[in-house]
Amino acid sequence: MSATTIAGAAYLIAALLFILSLAGLSKHETARRGVTFGIAGMAIALIATGVIAVQNAWDSPAGMLGLGILVVVMIVGAVIGLWRARVVEMTGMPELIALLHSFVGAAAVLVGWNGALDAPHLEGALKDIHHAEVFIGVFIGGVTLTGSIVAFLKLSARMSSKPLVLPGKNFLNLGALVAFVALTVWYVITPEMWLLVTVTVLALLLGWHLVASIGGGDMPVVVSMLNSYSGWAAAAAGFLLSNDLLIVTGALVGSSGAYLSYIMCKAMNRSFISVIAGGFGIEAPAKGGDEDQGEHREIDAEATAELLAGASSVVITPGYGMAVAQAQYPVAELASRLRERGVEVRFGIHPVAGRLPGHMNVLLAEAKVPYDIVLEMDEINDELAETDVVLVIGANDTVNPAAAEDPSSPIAGMPVLRAWEARNVVVFKRSMASGYAGVQNPLFFRENAQMLFGDAKERVEDILRTL
Ligand code: TAP
Repeated sequence: MSATTIAGAAYLIAALLFILSLAGLSKHETARRGVTFGIAGMAIALIATGVIAVQNAWDSPAGMLGLGILVVVMIVGAVIGLWRARVVEMTGMPELIALLHSFVGAAAVLVGWNGALDAPHLEGALKDIHHAEVFIGVFIGGVTLTGSIVAFLKLSARMSSKPLVLPGKNFLNLGALVAFVALTVWYVITPEMWLLVTVTVLALLLGWHLVASIGGGDMPVVVSMLNSYSGWAAAAAGFLLSNDLLIVTGALVGSSGAYLSYIMCKAMNRSFISVIAGGFGIEAPAKGGDEDQGEHREIDAEATAELLAGASSVVITPGYGMAVAQAQYPVAELASRLRERGVEVRFGIHPVAGRLPGHMNVLLAEAKVPYDIVLEMDEINDELAETDVVLVIGANDTVNPAAAEDPSSPIAGMPVLRAWEARNVVVFKRSMASGYAGVQNPLFFRENAQMLFGDAKERVEDILRTL
């Protein structure tokens, strides 16, 4: 049996394992098994690629050189990958994922360019198809590359999370798409290098603009959309390299990422088309939310402890700040102490609280908070008006009343936890700074709200000492 046949069979098994992995990852209980299937699939795919490389090395000196390069890059890649995965903080995961997507985009651009510079000898329709593959691969790869870099910069706060609003931005995006289609036809007819250079620059600019135009509140959808783009970029590279596994895996990632983006858009009350088209149809917000909101009131840890001691129902709505402060352990302790005193304590979790899907659920599970008191936003929202005290721990955008009440707000329409309806609200944060979407939060200035300033972990520990 030849190495190519063995590799073909191995690719099929790897593709099946990737499908099982996706199925496993769709539920909490089976997620660990899903990851194991994914690792097994990737290991089989790598071994199969190695088998082909060894066969090539056996056949020719050029193959030997290829094998040497492959071994070196695999070792370097594995070492960097292991190091990053070990040191990354949970709060840094989305930006790491965005950066990894940019690598897939860069790879697709390089594979496309290689396909153009080292074109196989083809005739007729096959030649036209090859040219179209090169062009489409470079375009999708370029958009993914710069789009993911902007997402990385925004998520790591190296770039403002506010949307970039260039005049006529929708026409710029539409114009770039029309130009891409026209250039593709041109390139298929006359494959000249300057056309490839033009589409590469066009794709890099479009990727940058598409993601820069999207506001912070929509970043979760953007990351999942870039995940989808990176899948399509990999599939495009797979066509050029005639690699079936890359085509299947790319299509799996592309379609599942697109579906996840669609589900997230529905949950966030956002238009899917608008988000994938770089905020299409969303004009510059009428105001930035920085207007004077009046005076806020402050509270200290002792007074908060007193308030909690006198409450019969408490809801805790955690957000990104709880993850930054690593406050989940004292928060879990606080919940348990209050429950011992007969207070009804529940957690209200917003679908995009934190920086990655399920972020708060993972932290609370880590701190052993019982599942049955951790409720989804839709399950708790109608009960907040009947709640004595809501503790907003490091959350901001996800409890912002402007989303529900102010149609001119940049986050208008996004479903939020209606914390402001409770009898008392205590907000744990370090300053009056806005949240990830860069929008001021009117909740902080409401009569029933008080600010408890400082690091969330330290303040909760202060409360525990007083209780
Ligand atoms: P954010 O709106 O990001 O606000 C977090 C707040 O935590 C900040 O206002 C910050 O205020 C406070 N904070 C930070 N460190 C703290 C500390 N050590 N102690 C106490 N407070 C601290 O949080 P959110 O309500 O969870 O909303 C999430 C946002 O991220 C949404 O806009 C969402 O769209 C976006 N996003 C989500 C995801 C996913 S998938 N979940 C991915 C990307 C983006 P101070 O600086 O004043 O302390």
